[in-house]
Amino acid sequence: KMPKPYTAAFVRPPVLKPYQTGKDQLGRFARYTISQRPGVANLVPNLRTPIYAYNGIFPGPVIELDQGVRAYVRMRNKLPANHPRLSHPFHTSTHLHGSASMPQYDGYANDITMPGYYKEYRYPNFQPARTLWYHDHGVHHTAENVYSGLAAFYLMHDPAERALLPQGEFDVPLMVNDIMLAADGAPNYNDRTHSGLWGDIILVNGQPWPVMKVKRRVYRFRVLNASISRSYRFQLSTGDPVTMVATDGGLMPVAQQVGSWRHGSAERYEILIDFRKYKAGQRIELRNLSNKNNVDFANTGKVMAFDVVDDAFTTVNNKIPTTLVGSPVMKLTEAQSLRSRRLEVERKHDMWTINGKTWHDVGESGFRDVVSNPDLNDVELWEIENKSGGWFHPVHIHLIDFQILSRNGAPAFPWERGPKDVVYVGEGETVRLLMRFEHQKGKYMIHCHNLPHEDHDMMQQFSVGLKAG
Ligand code: C2O
Ligand code: CU
Repeated sequence: KMPKPYTAAFVRPPVLKPYQTGKDQLGRFARYTISQRPGVANLVPNLRTPIYAYNGIFPGPVIELDQGVRAYVRMRNKLPANHPRLSHPFHTSTHLHGSASMPQYDGYANDITMPGYYKEYRYPNFQPARTLWYHDHGVHHTAENVYSGLAAFYLMHDPAERALLPQGEFDVPLMVNDIMLAADGAPNYNDRTHSGLWGDIILVNGQPWPVMKVKRRVYRFRVLNASISRSYRFQLSTGDPVTMVATDGGLMPVAQQVGSWRHGSAERYEILIDFRKYKAGQRIELRNLSNKNNVDFANTGKVMAFDVVDDAFTTVNNKIPTTLVGSPVMKLTEAQSLRSRRLEVERKHDMWTINGKTWHDVGESGFRDVVSNPDLNDVELWEIENKSGGWFHPVHIHLIDFQILSRNGAPAFPWERGPKDVVYVGEGETVRLLMRFEHQKGKYMIHCHNLPHEDHDMMQQFSVGLKAG
């Protein structure tokens, strides 16, 4: 029943239209409504895969807007009362990953919406242009809920990025994730452990190993790893480098040529591929060289293919820029940091801990425990050490963007020299991060984005501007 690589056609997820746009005393806004509901995907020929997804499709509908346009998203939970296969209550919490949202709209894990109810989320969209995504964050069931289909892109534009990088048809989101299907076509959760879940099918925008026709010009790909656990090391089959232009938080200060890059869950890397140097009729593959501590299958080394065609195209932004626009966080220096914090990741009794604690422990303290409590606009240096042995952890910090100062004392990898909100903390690695706690006050989460790790129970919180007294 396995699909064959490079037989499915590439598709772009549909863009969602706002049901209302306008302007008020705060500026421009757009209103959207989305239903989390059952749907059916056709991932494998002749097999129907039941999904539970935004508007019933996977990936969900894309929200695409300009910086400065506030968004109101009414999120309806029209899911069954209990997950039909897993039987947990189908509560959800929606996180817009990459947004400096107010705490009550940030998808805090325990802020759940039960089936039959809705919540209206508000997003400020004042940050620099970036690739964001929204996904479920329901406490203890984030992994299952995302694996069931609750994930989608949210793309924010601004003038700097519009002037420099390909747009429209040549600005292509790629959501990469792996899945394993049971004989009846449903996502198979049976091999799930607290360590992770690895699928044998690689999907790009919901299609198994698709083929995309590309014209002989520069394309921009916004690559998101939406896998529950798997990390990738992407490389073109030609061995040619790609040009890395943006990271999680938007444009890098300087574009980087990279031959391959390591890409953990929830990280976003925007790359340019210059198809001018290839001939019509040529096929270029995007491959996965694999990282340590993933489970590989026959075709998990393949991702998708590009078939070059000779069609006409517009030449707008058909270039490879070198100097981009530095995000403010990339201009921070270590001397500006007021204090440092140390976070240690360990495995204890089949649970994942940060500084010895789990999300459950934080809950037991009435959610008073925080790993740090800076004032608004404080700059801090965080050092995260992975003491958990043979595991890697893509660690996500909500609210802010950070700069990766160093990895094991060495400079950050070329591809991560831009604003980030997820850092891949590999086996035995120690990373140092610099960040400013700006934009909002409140409590926010920090957690592993290997979602079974997050659910069991590698999540903590920090507070901004809430110091007692
Ligand atoms: Cu993408 Cu707290 O998550
Ligand atoms: Cu982890």
